[in-house]
Amino acid sequence: MLEDTGIRLADSKRELVYGRVTRRLRALGLDSFRAYRALLERDDGREREALRSVITTKLTAFGREAHHFDHLRDQLLRPWAAAGARGRLRIWSAGCASGEEPYSIAMAVAKAVPQWQRCDIRILATDIDESVLDHARAATYTPAQVARVPFADRERHFVRVADGEGVRYRLRPALAALVTLRQLNLIGELPMRGPLDAIFCRNVAIYFDRQAQQRMYARFARLQRAGDLLFVGHSESLHGISDDYALVGRTIYRRR
Ligand SMILES: C[S@@+](CC[C@H](N)C(=O)[O-])C[C@H]1O[C@@H](n2cnc3c(N)ncnc32)[C@H](O)[C@@H]1O
Repeated sequence: MLEDTGIRLADSKRELVYGRVTRRLRALGLDSFRAYRALLERDDGREREALRSVITTKLTAFGREAHHFDHLRDQLLRPWAAAGARGRLRIWSAGCASGEEPYSIAMAVAKAVPQWQRCDIRILATDIDESVLDHARAATYTPAQVARVPFADRERHFVRVADGEGVRYRLRPALAALVTLRQLNLIGELPMRGPLDAIFCRNVAIYFDRQAQQRMYARFARLQRAGDLLFVGHSESLHGISDDYALVGRTIYRRR
């Protein structure tokens, strides 16, 4: 049922998936899995999309896996700025969820490249799920969500907006403008042109079966030149999956 997403549902996830699908049934007012199955059989694609969305995890956070951002700063951004910030700089957040990852990359750019507003820098951010992309487009977060953004960055890049009794943090347009958000299924062909200086594809491939992972990393490799960076999630590895990349740090790879 989920072939087009490449999602592999391990037996260990049975309980989790059961709980999430049950909640979906309740939301639809259905009282049995049989009724849900019937609905999926006459579905025009929309319910499959909703099902995929409830099953997958969208967990993310600003500055998640901080050592990736240190590496990006020291190995790509600062050297690029020091060399005059010439040419294009392209970074892709693949499986960007609600935007915390691409906006963390944008904050790293603004910190490391003094002339960032006058350079040809683009951060492409894609996800299969339109609902998380809507959240990313709104670029508005709760105090808890921005709690781990360093104070100076929060002051510089967010404005506080009233939200009922409370407050929310909205990203300033100048920084948000670095990021282009698009819907994209990582299981299919990739429409973009390279080269991509860095790809963040973190905590996405863990849901894919081995073959889907191999194909995806092979497509990534075609978009990168020797030396370009690939960051993966804390429990992901390209070992035995791709020979195109060499491990250069904790869950950090370089295109060979
Ligand atoms: C756990 S979140 C990871 C977010 C972020 N990369 C991070 O590490 O914080 C996984 C994201 O991958 C997306 N995703 C799952 N399957 C996908 C697919 N086939 N193509 C593109 N995105 C996918 C989900 O919608 C979700 O937003």
